[in-house]
Amino acid sequence: MSAKAGTDEGAESDEPVRFAHESEEEFTRILDFYRVAWQYEPRTFPLKEEEGRLVEAFTPDFYLPDLDLYIELTTLKQSLVTQKHGKIRRFQERYPDLQIKLLHRSDYLSLLAKYGFGPFSEVEVAGIEEVLFSVSELEQRVDELGAQISREYRGKEPLLVGVLRGVTCFMADLIRHISLPLEIDFMAISSFEGERGGAVRILKDLDEPLAGRDVILVEDIVDTGMTLNTLLQELQVRRPASLKVCTLLDKRVRRLVDVPIEYVGFEVPDEFVVGYGLDFRQKFRNLPFIATLKRDWMRTHLETKIGPE
Ligand code: IMP
Repeated sequence: MSAKAGTDEGAESDEPVRFAHESEEEFTRILDFYRVAWQYEPRTFPLKEEEGRLVEAFTPDFYLPDLDLYIELTTLKQSLVTQKHGKIRRFQERYPDLQIKLLHRSDYLSLLAKYGFGPFSEVEVAGIEEVLFSVSELEQRVDELGAQISREYRGKEPLLVGVLRGVTCFMADLIRHISLPLEIDFMAISSFEGERGGAVRILKDLDEPLAGRDVILVEDIVDTGMTLNTLLQELQVRRPASLKVCTLLDKRVRRLVDVPIEYVGFEVPDEFVVGYGLDFRQKFRNLPFIATLKRDWMRTHLETKIGPE
């Protein structure tokens, strides 16, 4: 995920980055965990010339393309901090359109909190193994899906049907990226768990009739496909003009029933994933990213088996 750059902005190389300070490496470990792209010392900015000769230049430590932000890390040495403040002031005067921030070690986490990682950036999230899709990756993909739906439903007024509760974050973001008049409705169902199968039970039915409507069934994740298969049969009976499926995540490797899916955000591996609405025993829904859970952690929190071994 990390983007490593040489002296020119945007130039990437596979060479391992040599950091000048340990604190810089620590900062990149936090950025990598949250899948925030970074470039180390991406560019040198001229600050002052005398008689056509460059007498002062400044190379910020990092550029974070997702946030369009340059970062300079400080050390504890007060003399250096004062020097850096001066450089940053001159940088801001000369490049007023660029964003730069001087960060102290204790500021790393508050920076991430400010840019949407929420309260979870301040504590290690127990049970989380790896962030699969970052805040900005989710934003970008949902934007693309919204644009595609807007194109393909031009002239129509689709009805988006969400399946509670995992779909809440995705639905809320998706509809704001669809530039068409639309309606939404939700249903709640009892899901298949463990060995127990059988029909999906509707706990809360739709309020809107589907007859003659262009319906898009919106799901958080399709795993075996059994839930979706039963839902599609149930909704088809209500005679919509069209019925398509949009899922944020597709755990295709686990599919038992072949179901047609028109719009897929991301394919995910055979792991239990949480965040951005998805839960494990009602927890983790408010993580702003999607992450896998540690299997050991899950095992100790399960009486019954959920997800793959
Ligand atoms: P399916 O019937 O096996 O396709 O299961 C779909 C439902 O199972 C989803 O709507 C989720 O509620 C739940 N589910 C399956 N895999 C996961 C996961 O990795 N994390 C969270 N929920 C999951």
